[in-house]
Amino acid sequence: MTTLDATTTAPASRLKGWDSIEFYVGNARATAGFLTAAFGFEVTAYAGPETGRDDVASYLLEQGDIRFVVTAGLTPDSPIWTHVREHGDGAQDLAFVVDDATMTYEAAIARGARSVSEPYELSDEHGTLRLAAIGTYGETKHTFVDRRDYSGHYCPGYVTTGLPPMPAGQPVGLDRIDHVVGNVEIGKLDEWVAFYEDVMGFRQLRHFDEHQIATEYSALRSTVVTNDAGVTMPLNEPADGLKRSQIQEYLDTYRGPGVQHIALGTGDIVQAIRALRSRGVRFLEANEEYFHDVRNRLGYLEVPWNAIEQLGILVDSESDGHLLQLFTEPITDRPTVFIEIIQRGGATGFGEGNFKALFESIEREQERRGHL
Ligand code: FE2
Repeated sequence: MTTLDATTTAPASRLKGWDSIEFYVGNARATAGFLTAAFGFEVTAYAGPETGRDDVASYLLEQGDIRFVVTAGLTPDSPIWTHVREHGDGAQDLAFVVDDATMTYEAAIARGARSVSEPYELSDEHGTLRLAAIGTYGETKHTFVDRRDYSGHYCPGYVTTGLPPMPAGQPVGLDRIDHVVGNVEIGKLDEWVAFYEDVMGFRQLRHFDEHQIATEYSALRSTVVTNDAGVTMPLNEPADGLKRSQIQEYLDTYRGPGVQHIALGTGDIVQAIRALRSRGVRFLEANEEYFHDVRNRLGYLEVPWNAIEQLGILVDSESDGHLLQLFTEPITDRPTVFIEIIQRGGATGFGEGNFKALFESIEREQERRGHL
C-alpha cells in the first residue's frame, strides 16, 4: 500500500520548498570566507575533524531563508575531490524539504528517476533526520529532506558553536532562493523538461526558443518548470550560433551539465547591490546604451532610477509587473556558476527583456577568456 500511495502522489507536490544548496569545493574554509565577506552570509554550523568528521570540512551558511552548504573532501580518495577534479567548484546538491523522504523517493523511482541514495536516517540528541536522493542533470542530485522528527539546527554531525566570526560590512539583505537554473546538453532540453514534468510532476511555466534568446553570436533554448510551491527551475540548452554559446562554454568548462546560476531574492535590491559592491562583488556590467534604452522604454515605472543607473541594476517589465535584477561574474575559478540578485515588483518572469544585454555582457567576458 505504501508504494501505491507513494506513486499516486507526484514528487513535486511533496516538495515544500528549498532546504539547501550544497557546493562541492576545493577549499571549504576559503569559500565560506568568500561567501561571508563578499555576500554577507553567516556561518551557522560546521562539520569537520573537530566534530568527528575526518573525511570532510563542511560549512552551513545562512542569510534570510537561504541556506548554502560548502563542503570539501579531506582525503585523496574522497568522492568530493573526484567531483571537484572533473567540474571545479560547483553546486552539486539541490535539496528540498519534503513531507516524507521515503514516499517522495519511492514515487520518483517508480516514475523513472535514477537513485543516488536510498532512504536513510541520521540521528543525534535532537532527533532523526530522514533523507533520500535522486539524480538529475549531469552529476547534480536532489536530496529529499524530512525534518518532521528533527529539531536540530541543520543536520546531525554539525556543531553550532566555535564558528568563524562575521566579517564587517554593510548588511546585504538577501532573503530567499528565487530560482535555480540548470544548463543541459545540446539537444537534451526537452528530455530534461519531460523528466521534471512526467517523473517529478512539475508544471511548465514558460519556454523561450533560440529566436527569442539570441545575440549576434550565440543563442539558447530555455524552459522553466515549477512545482507552484516555491521551487522554480529554468533549464537551458545551447543553440547553434555564429560563435560558441555561453551555455556551450559552461558545458565545456564544467565538463557536463550543471547549475548555471542561483537567483537570490531581496526586498531592497538597491541596498543589496550597494552592499555587495562595497564588499567587492563583481557584476556583469551592461553598457550605457542599455540604460538610455531602458529609461526610454520603461521610464514610467516608479523605481529609483538614479540609484538603479548608478548601481548598474537591470530593469524589466511584463504585463504583471516589473523586476529588478543583476548578475555576478562567475563565483568559481572556471567560468561556470554565478549568482543573480532579484527584486520582484509583481513580475513572475526571469528578465527576458534583459537577456540580450546580459548575453552581450557575458560575450565580452568570454572574448577576454578566448572562449568565444
Ligand atoms: Fe535567472
